Amino acid sequence: MKIQLTEFCMAYQDQGSGIPVLLIHGYPLNSAMWEPQLTDLADCARLIAPDLRGHGNSEDVDGAYTMEAHAQDCNELLEKLGVQRKVIICGLSMGGYIALAFYRLFPDKVTGLVLTSTRAAADSFEAKANRDESIKLAQEQGIQAIVKGMAPRLLSASTRASKPQLVNQLGELMMHNSLRAVQGDLLGMKVRINSIPLLPEIRVPVQIIHGADDDIVPLDEAVRMQALIPGAGLCLIHHAAHLPNLEQPKYFNKCMREFLKQWKP
Ligand code: MLT
Repeated sequence: MKIQLTEFCMAYQDQGSGIPVLLIHGYPLNSAMWEPQLTDLADCARLIAPDLRGHGNSEDVDGAYTMEAHAQDCNELLEKLGVQRKVIICGLSMGGYIALAFYRLFPDKVTGLVLTSTRAAADSFEAKANRDESIKLAQEQGIQAIVKGMAPRLLSASTRASKPQLVNQLGELMMHNSLRAVQGDLLGMKVRINSIPLLPEIRVPVQIIHGADDDIVPLDEAVRMQALIPGAGLCLIHHAAHLPNLEQPKYFNKCMREFLKQWKP
């Protein structure tokens, strides 16, 4: 489905009924990464999964790709869809950075947060330098160079062995984004603010979900967030790296279901 926002036409998926859950994808992915959640969890929630600006089937914009710009697009989508209830914001990796930006901008619209494969800290000096390298690489060699380096790192060794087709599927999914979006995300992540001071101020239920083998965002980051967010739960998914929702959908969805029970009518 598509909807016209102020700056661009946004593609999104919208399935199920009940408490609204906004599923925000990571970099450089799109809403297709939520397929196992969209098919399995629609009986207990209304799942709304946008393709962020320039990703998947959404139009590209000649503007900022900051975490705040993405969060504002998500808010506009919810407004245009007429969603009146408070929502659960579920973000994976960059989607988690956007979820925290959304909470900072619109705290009164949020009733819960799911932070998966993500961190609250800003980029280190070294991470910022790596972003610059990646922007240059994408400029010189195209998105395929980014995909080649990143796709295998997203999955654990056990997933690569048990689901070899997933590496190729992910590669195709990652290619379905514009160069401007890939570079824009890199710049947006590089300049994102440190959300650590926000964590003790969060006043809604929070579920953290993390793959035990994640080396893009190490588990320490999740443990650190749990320690700072009042009452936050941490669900550790074994045999999964950066994409536990795709690598171990059964366990990921079980964890989501448990969390969502709080909003059952
Ligand atoms: C992501 O998966 O969204 C990114 O790898 C996050 C990052 O690079 O910080």
